[in-house]
Order: sequence, then C-alpha cells, then structure tokens
Amino acid sequence: SEDSHVTDYDFSFEGPFGSYDQMQLQRGLQVYTEICSACHGMKFVPIRSLSDEGGPGLPEDQVRAYAEFYEIYDEDIDDYRPRRPVDHFPESSLENAPDLSLMAKARAGFHGPYGLGINQFFKGMGGPEYIASLLNGYTGEDKEEAGAILYENTAFPGGWIAMAPPLYGDDVVYADGTEASMQQEAQDVAAFLMWAAEPKLGARKQAGFTGVLMLAVLAALLYLTNKRIWAPYK
Ligand code: HEM
Repeated sequence: SEDSHVTDYDFSFEGPFGSYDQMQLQRGLQVYTEICSACHGMKFVPIRSLSDEGGPGLPEDQVRAYAEFYEIYDEDIDDYRPRRPVDHFPESSLENAPDLSLMAKARAGFHGPYGLGINQFFKGMGGPEYIASLLNGYTGEDKEEAGAILYENTAFPGGWIAMAPPLYGDDVVYADGTEASMQQEAQDVAAFLMWAAEPKLGARKQAGFTGVLMLAVLAALLYLTNKRIWAPYK
C-alpha cells in the first residue's frame, strides 16, 4: 500500500559494481536455517549452490553435511533418505508460509510516484529492502480476525500480517562473531534471500560490463573509420 514503510538499506550488491558479501550470505544462511526454515521453504534452490563462487561459498564437505541434515522422499527406494547437494532445499513446512526461493524478486520495496517507477529507477526494485523492513516492521500490536492472529507491521501492505515476529535480536549466535542485533539479522537474511533469487548477479553484471566496454571500443573504431572515409571530401 502507499503508506507501507520500506527503508532504503545500502546492500553490498547494489550498483553496477556491487557484489554479494560472502560473510553476510553465510550469516544470512544461518538465520534462514535456524529461524525461517521452521516454516518457510526454498524448493527451487539446489543445496549445492551454497558452494558456488559469488554465493556463500561453503566448502563442499560442509555443503554435504548441510544437505544430509534434511531428509527427502526418494521414489526409487520408496523411502526417505538424507538429502544430497544435488537435491533442493525443503519446501515450506507451514502451509500458509510462502516459499522464499524467489521472494526477494517477487516483492518490490519502492513504488511510485503514480506508478511511474521513478523510485525503482533510482533505488532499485527494493525486494531485499522490503524483506529487511518487514522483519523490522513489527509494532508489537496484534489482533484476532476470523480465528487467525494478525500482527501489525509497518512494511506489510495492508498493515497486518499472519507471520508472527520471527526476529527479536540474539536469535542466532553468529559463527563469525558478528553481533546478532535484529537489524543485522534482518539485513543478513534479506541479502541471503536476494542471492537465492538472483545467484548469477555477479556473472550478469560482469557480462554487462564486458558488453558496454566492447560497445565503447566499437564506437571509437567506427568514429575513426568514419573520419578516415570522409577525410578526402572535407
Ligand atoms: C510470510 C520472510 C520466518 C510464517 C513471509 C514473507 C516473507 C517472510 C518475506 C512474505 C510477506 C509478503 O507476502 O509480502 C521470513 C523470514 C523469516 C521468516 C526471512 C526468518 C527470519 C517465519 C516463521 C514462520 C513464518 C518462523 C512461522 C512460525 C509466515 C507466514 C507468512 C509469512 C504464515 C504469510 C503471512 C501472510 O501472508 O499474512 N515470511 N519469514 N515465517 N511467513 Fe515468514
């Protein structure tokens, strides 16, 4: 809605030369694993991508251990077995908790004015900003409506969300020693979810840069060629 509040956080992956902060992605993975995955899933994300370059960059033995933590039903053996890195993250375990694989791209944090997209042009789509703002947006008010408890949230369109506040600060003990304030956790998991939704961001920016560079060289050569062709007639 127009009055929902989204903070324009500075993320490391913004701008033409921005890239993911590997340590932040690892912290975000930790928040996702220890808190969010209790209800949400990420069924489109292969676990093996946790070792991809430009992502959290976990060593392969850690990725294998991470995968084994989650069972999956295997049709071939008609039984459950531990996941392997080629398997995907589990799906949501809570029916009304949406899958988070693409959430950072499915939501926009910035709108308007009047649907022109000017805000998005300057600030970006704001998916991760929306997620971080959502996690920090609880006012502490709740109400019961049609048998469900709704929590007031300043970032959620409509103002009342069915997700109880998942973060309070110090919900995890970060492996890298970073202080686990609520702001920190929210931004870390938002960055992680951005990576999950856009794992090739780095490669895409690299290709774009190479393309622009080639076009610049081509433009310079064409300019000089043009000069030379017309030189006798000027
Ligand atoms: C919805 C993120 C933890 C239950 C959502 C949405 C996001 C999100 C981005 C979508 C909001 C929208 O539609 O715009 C997270 C993150 C978590 C987390 C990052 C961990 C830090 C949890 C937990 C539960 C939960 C632990 C269950 C106890 C739900 C439910 C919804 C929801 C039921 C649907 C709310 C509605 O549509 O009203 N969550 N969540 N979430 N989440 Fe979570």
